[in-house]
Amino acid sequence: MAVGDDLKRAAGFAAVDRYVRAGTCIGLGTGTTAHWAIVRVGERVAAGEEIVAVPTSEATAALCRELRIPLAAFGARAIDVAIDGADEVAADWSLTKGGGGAMFREKAVALAARTFVVIVTPEKLVDRLGAFPTPVEVVPYALPYVEREIATHLGATIARRGGETPYVTDNGNALLDCAFGLIADPVGLDRALRDIHGVVATGLFASSLTAAVIVAAPDGVRELQKPELD
Ligand code: 5RP
Repeated sequence: MAVGDDLKRAAGFAAVDRYVRAGTCIGLGTGTTAHWAIVRVGERVAAGEEIVAVPTSEATAALCRELRIPLAAFGARAIDVAIDGADEVAADWSLTKGGGGAMFREKAVALAARTFVVIVTPEKLVDRLGAFPTPVEVVPYALPYVEREIATHLGATIARRGGETPYVTDNGNALLDCAFGLIADPVGLDRALRDIHGVVATGLFASSLTAAVIVAAPDGVRELQKPELD
């Protein structure tokens, strides 16, 4: 196991054991923390439980197939619970996601799920979002236009993911990593970005999406108390 994997494993296992019952349709996230939730679901399926998964990426779908976890297409079934990692969790539970490039499908699944559970290690907890650049998925044709609009009107420093070898999302799109500095209004920024023609999705997740945050630290696994929002 890589350094820190024991904590990611603890978070993933705890989320599945707390939120997944036999008969559940589960949305499964993408990344090194979500990996362990998938492994735990695989163990429970192998033990005979009926669990169906909606994957948020081709990588997650491949791991599910390897572990013989039955898959459902997005939209084919109601999703009881979705479990996923995050790059940043703010004090109000808004999130930055998309470090693994899967945020369009991750947001689709989180929006559709009755309960969206976020699993992280403590370094992901921040007061406000923004130290981690915001991933923005863009239709390749519109890339130079979108880049200019974001830089000119929203004041970000922008890097094309992959550089010389452009990163391609599961949806066939490009990714821009946009540094805005600390973000005062993630919902407003998400909307402003999506108003630019060619932007498909952003990695900013509204705080209202998150139902639970599970944090695995060296001294144990805990569930954060829901913040009081104005
Ligand atoms: C993928 C994501 C991941 O959930 C996020 O990047 C966290 O990944 P990890 O658990 O590997 O740190 O949003 O698009």
